[in-house]
Formats: sequence, C-alpha cells, structure tokens
Amino acid sequence: MKKPIRVLFATSEVHPLMKTGGLGDVSGSLPQALRALGMDIRIAMPAYGDTLARLQAWRPRSELMLAPFGRIRILEARLPDSDVPLYLIDHPLFSERPGNPYNDSTGHAWPDNAERFALFSRTCESIALDRAALDWQVDLVHANDWQSGLLTALLAERGDQTPPALITIHNLAYQGVFDRKTFQNLNLPVNLWRPDGVEHWGEMNCLKAGINGSRFITTVSPGYAREIQTQPFGNGLDGLLRHRHEDVIGILNGIDMKTWDPAHDPALPLPYDAEQLENKTHNKRALQEEMGLLEDDQLLLVGLIGRMTGQKGLDIVLQAADALMSLPVQIAVLGSGDQGLEAAYLDWMARYPGRVSVHIGYNEGLAHRIEAGCDAFLMPSRFEPCGLNQMYSLRYGTPPIVHGVGGLRDTVIDTHEATLADHSANGFVMRHLDTHAILWGVGRALEYFRQPTLWQAIQQNGMAADFGWDKSALQYMALYQRMLDERARR
Ligand code: ADP
Ligand code: GLC
Repeated sequence: MKKPIRVLFATSEVHPLMKTGGLGDVSGSLPQALRALGMDIRIAMPAYGDTLARLQAWRPRSELMLAPFGRIRILEARLPDSDVPLYLIDHPLFSERPGNPYNDSTGHAWPDNAERFALFSRTCESIALDRAALDWQVDLVHANDWQSGLLTALLAERGDQTPPALITIHNLAYQGVFDRKTFQNLNLPVNLWRPDGVEHWGEMNCLKAGINGSRFITTVSPGYAREIQTQPFGNGLDGLLRHRHEDVIGILNGIDMKTWDPAHDPALPLPYDAEQLENKTHNKRALQEEMGLLEDDQLLLVGLIGRMTGQKGLDIVLQAADALMSLPVQIAVLGSGDQGLEAAYLDWMARYPGRVSVHIGYNEGLAHRIEAGCDAFLMPSRFEPCGLNQMYSLRYGTPPIVHGVGGLRDTVIDTHEATLADHSANGFVMRHLDTHAILWGVGRALEYFRQPTLWQAIQQNGMAADFGWDKSALQYMALYQRMLDERARR
C-alpha cells in the first residue's frame, strides 16, 4: 500500500477554535476533506487563549527553545468532530492575548504581530524539519496567508533537502509588512533580506516571503488567480505573481455542506429544503421578529453579513441607503469592524426602524438565521478572493446579489432569459460597483421576487449546486503529488 502523503497545514485560524472570516472556515474543512482522501494531514495553529478555552481536551506533547522567544510548547489535540490531528503552538504571545488574533479591541493591529507570527512560522519550520520531537516526518508544507509566509521562506533557505511548500493566498490585501528594524530583531537568517526573500521596497513583507519560498501559489478562486496578476488587484505584488504565472493556480473553496445545510441546521427555527420552500417563509418571519423588523411577507428582506472593512463595499450600500428605502425592501445586517462603519449602520437603523436592523458583533447562530430568513443576500465587495457567504446563500435558497469580481463571479450566475432557460441562473451580478449598481441589483431581485414561479426556479438552481470540497480537495491533492514527484526526480 502507498504511504499516505504527510502534510503540515499551517494556519492562523481554524473554525471552531478561532475564526475571524473565511480562512477559519476553510482551515476547518479542507483538511478534513484531504484526510478523507487518505492523506496524513495535520494542522498547526497558534494556541490562543480563547482556543484553549474552547477545546475539550489537549495534552502537552513537546517543547523547544527558540531565541529570542524562549520556551515554546507544542500541545496536541484533535480538530473537534473530526480525526484531524492538531498541533497548538503555545507561548504567552498567543495564550495571553484574548479576543481577535490580529487586532486589539479598537481594531488596531497588535504591535508585536511580527514577533508573534515569526514565532509561529519558526516553530512550524522545526516541525517540518522533524526537530520538534513529534516523531513525524513531513513530506510537504501547506502555508496560508502572510501569517505562515516566513515558514516557506525559511524552508527554502535551507536548500533542496527540506520539504517543498505550497502557499494559499486567501487575501492579498493583507501582507504582513514590517520595517527593517523589526526584521533584525527576529533572529531570522540575515540573508533573507533580499528581494527574492522577505524584502519588498525596503520593508519586510511576509506574504512575499511566502510566495518566494513556495513551489506553488494557490488562491481561492480561478477568477482571483487571474485578477491578482493585474495592477488593480495586485496590491503591489502583481509583478511578482505575473513572473510566477505558471505556478499561480486558482482552486475554488468548498463549503462545509454539513454545517451549512438548511435541512439539518440546529440554529434555524424550522428546517427546510428545496422541496419545502414554504418553510423558509417561517424562517423569514422568525428573523423579522428576532431582529425587530416589520413582519411583512411582501417586503424583500435583504441580508448582509461580514467583516466591516473597505473590501466588502458596505460604504457604497450606505450611499444608496435612502434610495433603497424607497423600494419595498428590508435590510438585515450582521457584522463588526471599522468603528465608523458600525456607527453609520446603527444610524441607518435608527432612521428607519422596522425597515433596517443592524446587529454589531460576531454571532454564528444569527449568521445562519440571516442566511435562511432573508429573501436575498447582498455582497457588493470591491474585491473578493472567494467569498463563502454567497455559497451559503445559494445553499439556503437566498439568491445572492453580488459585484462580479473574484470568486463571486465564479459562483454566481446572473439571471436573464438564457440562464433561466438552461437552469443556471442563481442570482444577480452587478458589473460595476456604485450606488446605481446597488439599486439596479436590488431592483432586479425585486422584479423576480414578484414572480414567484421564476423566483423559486432561481432559488432551486442555487440549492441544487454542489459546493462541497470533493472536487477542490482533489485539485490540492494533485498539486501535492506533483510537488512530491518533482522532488523524487531530483
Ligand atoms: P472573509 O473571509 O473575507 O471575511 P468570507 O465570505 O470568505 O469572507 O467568509 C466570512 C465568514 O465569516 C463566513 O462564514 C461568515 O458567515 C462569517 N462572518 C463574518 N462576519 C460575521 C459575524 N459578524 N458574525 C458571524 N459570522 C460572521
Ligand atoms: C479571505 C477572503 C475571502 C475568502 C476567504 C477564505 O478572507 O477575503 O474571499 O473566501 O479568505 O479563503
């Protein structure tokens, strides 16, 4: 029998142990899909204080000393409800920092993030080199985003005998950029300070380091893989990515079809599926009640969930706020982030009681009930590497209204005569992003919403699609295999 491929999957968040966005969802579900394909994949993540509190059981497994950080413990556990082994990197820089893993409560980055994620990357390097007393030899490393970028650079620096690496870019907008002095204080090989190492325009750039150290660079949709090689979406790294175009590959994220299943969702007042859409109406009424909205079936209830950052285009919705209220629609919002946006959304709610409801905060259960209870879901993202909420919406029979970028364009098929005829229509795609586009998108959803037979067809098209991980996990596996075959040929 062939030996399973041994993969170290390094990530800074894993649902349900820590999540700020889609990276957590992906890190909690992709390794399970790869494990089901027979791979010996194990996750390494920081042991945040909140993570340890959420875990039922873990045990200290080994210890190492790394200057300038001192003693680091590796704890062993299992990803809840799975057979995926988990290594938790335990150090006061993680365990004594409550809340968000990257920012303080005012939304500012923790001042020592360079140290924190250098510590994480260097510990993962020790695991990858089998120097962490875990008795496990790694065949290859799968890093994610800038937080584990240094890991691949450090491995590459050691030459050909180390495990090859792949990095997945979940969001090019976050690169982990720090000044040179910070780099000098991290005890990293001085030689890494070069443009094909960590250096980028006189600064240290952890994501660039990750790209330079990796054999393949994947990102989370084919559309975004193309976009990041262009100047408007490249965040200053488009030149490098164009240079590596043969190694840049888009693999669409899957979703966890068990957690996000309207027929078996414990968060919902009444489960439903494509054959019992009338039960969805019950969820709408319950959501209106829960969020203090007028209980009116005729209004198109539009949901919005997400991190309140520039990426998500929530400011543009606000510009259309009053015009939207002239349409027969209601708005249900769940999110947190930028304090100015939070205040502006609360102000919108105050001005239109019963029509707009805004919940500031993070709430998993409410996110599920918004997906189920809304008629349509709005994602006016300026850019969107993949986006998971539009796929959750499709699965919940809640047609998404999206800006046609990145993963949104890859998953949402605009509704018109031809797509209705071939049963592919599943939502509404705005080609531009401004107030007119938002009004146009919501207006079109309304137009179809008033034609129940067509609306149901759009809902059912979305609900019939399979957004599970099977196909994408096979694509990752094929890349892993290629990396190992190349290595064996050397
Ligand atoms: P991103 O990773 O850019 O934030 P995604 O659409 O990929 O966007 O994933 C966002 C994930 O985070 C989804 O699972 C979404 O439901 C969840 N999420 C975002 N904000 C909140 C919130 N305030 N409460 C609950 N879940 C949230
Ligand atoms: C990022 C992106 C989002 C993507 C998620 C998971 O946070 O913003 O589009 O779905 O990562 O890959």
